[in-house]
Amino acid sequence: MPFNDLDAVKAVIDDHTCAIVVEPIQGEGGVVAATQEFMQGLRALCDEHNALLVLDEVQSGMGRSGKLFSYEHYGIKPDIITTAKALGGGFPVSAMLTTNEIASVMAPGVHGTTYGGNPLACAIAETALDIINTPEVLGGVEARRQQFVEALQAIDSKYDLFSEIRGKGLLIGAALKPQHASKARDILNASAAEGLMILTAGTDVIRFVPSLVIEPTDIEEGMARFAKAIAKVLAA
Ligand SMILES: Cc1ncc(COP(=O)(O)O)c(C=O)c1O
Repeated sequence: MPFNDLDAVKAVIDDHTCAIVVEPIQGEGGVVAATQEFMQGLRALCDEHNALLVLDEVQSGMGRSGKLFSYEHYGIKPDIITTAKALGGGFPVSAMLTTNEIASVMAPGVHGTTYGGNPLACAIAETALDIINTPEVLGGVEARRQQFVEALQAIDSKYDLFSEIRGKGLLIGAALKPQHASKARDILNASAAEGLMILTAGTDVIRFVPSLVIEPTDIEEGMARFAKAIAKVLAA
């Protein structure tokens, strides 16, 4: 289903719909943040049709957007959130969060998994949450994003490379212009050769998902290496 297209959702949702599942900021889908209108519209449609609004916050949650969970940017409340990745700070753990009302239908044993709820994973998740859910960490995300965006804009003004710099917080996507659209993988490889780890999202988006506490000097160094990689790819 097309993202950020409320009419497309309206066309398929009805009273048999159990749930709508969506990432508030698409990760693999190209680092696209839901619009305010789309997210609020989904909430209203779910309420109207008695469907659950389930948000996949595996990439966008745990402080990535500058809020603990990215739905907090949208003035809505989801019914269920899924979270993982940064929840364990590298240790494999995931969680589903929901309201007391919905949780009441899931008694212990209803939804089993071999390693579910193991004490080591839970202790690590609790520690990660205690570190991330602080004003020092969450409050530093926006300034770091700004530093990335300014560096990317400077690269863009030199090479006219990006059609859009998007995402939220430190989930940043730089979409390549159509004439450079096939170069994402080359840019990723050239960046790796400069000692810089970045990601792609699809064939035409460069994705930056740095540590939430990355030092400004590391951003500066990383973006300098990124600029070098870009220069090499465009000269090839
Ligand atoms: C947005 C999103 N949801 C879900 C998953 C799957 O998560 P897990 O590997 O914890 O099952 C991923 C994995 O990359 C993801 O990016």
